[in-house]
Amino acid sequence: MTEAPILVARDLARDYRVRLGLFGGHATLHAVAGASFTLGPGETLAVVGESGCGKSTLGRMVCLIESPSAGELSLAGQDAVRGNRDSRRRLRPLVQMVFQNPYASLNPRKKVGAILEEPLVINTKLGAAERREAARDMMAKVGLRPENYERYPHMFSGGQRQRIAIARALMLNPRIVVADEPVSALDVSIRAQVLNLLMDLQDGLGLAYLFISHDLGVVRHIARRVMVMYLGRPVEQGESSVIFNRPRHPYTRALMSSTPAVDPAHRAQRIPIKGELPSPLDPPPGCAFHRRCPYATAECQVRRPELREFDGRLVACHHAETVA
Ligand SMILES: Nc1ncnc2c1ncn2[C@@H]1O[C@H](COP(=O)(O)OP(=O)(O)O)[C@@H](O)[C@H]1O
Ligand code: SF4
Ligand SMILES: [Mg+2]
Repeated sequence: MTEAPILVARDLARDYRVRLGLFGGHATLHAVAGASFTLGPGETLAVVGESGCGKSTLGRMVCLIESPSAGELSLAGQDAVRGNRDSRRRLRPLVQMVFQNPYASLNPRKKVGAILEEPLVINTKLGAAERREAARDMMAKVGLRPENYERYPHMFSGGQRQRIAIARALMLNPRIVVADEPVSALDVSIRAQVLNLLMDLQDGLGLAYLFISHDLGVVRHIARRVMVMYLGRPVEQGESSVIFNRPRHPYTRALMSSTPAVDPAHRAQRIPIKGELPSPLDPPPGCAFHRRCPYATAECQVRRPELREFDGRLVACHHAETVA
């Protein structure tokens, strides 16, 4: 990467205090731990893993919606965790989020024009005419016709709504967009259109994407780099081409073999992920994947593998060398 990263995350972690039942005590849930990565301008990092592995929590931290419990985060070279409140507020517009569900994320009582202009009303001193022009420009960029300015969200299909949500996210000219499963709620037939729009916008505007997905087929097309998470922790990360060609973590391997389109060469050796996802409130000792892992040894039950460099990527597995 030649340009300075627009985002640097180091050992990001987020804990939640949760109640255990009606009369139980409290416990600490480690939703994310040890997440380190960078994002360059115009680059995409995909975050993948099963539901509950901490993807959205990570996305909310990057978007400054939630503060990390530990770790460092800097945006455009500025500390986004410890800086004073004013400097953090100034960083906010740099990162915007597109949510999974375009039905829930748009205010049904506001017209499209008002939805798009709202960030400008809150964050800028632009007058009404300038806001209107900016909203119309953005509508054109995301492929919405000008007459839609006066319409309400319920008059649109899921794909069109997601275009509105993307337009809203871009109104303040962010440098980074966190796209949290942006096409998962959409009809399969229109997913490609929305993904193509995201890629065109990235090219045109130099946006960096943190692209959250549980669909490896999508990830392979959209992201040069990928981070695979399991129970809150990154277990394998690096160039998508390297990881998809030869995953070295048994969990990545299993995820890929459950997505046949991604792994035609290895389809014969499909490895189902056995057993249930453990509770993040009570993660297994040692390697959190050991109860489901076909390669697990006694060591895996007691010692947690650290992320380490091996075979051109980072991998957290004691036996990565033997994962074929
Ligand atoms: N506000 C919260 N309070 C308590 N637990 C939470 C909260 N948000 C997320 N969690 C828990 O953190 C873990 C990670 O959740 P999440 O980041 O939503 O995962 P994903 O997006 O990968 O499905 C889950 O166990 C979830 O139940
Ligand atoms: S450390 Fe052990 S249990 Fe964990 S993924 Fe590697 S082989 Fe499997
Ligand atoms: Mg999520």
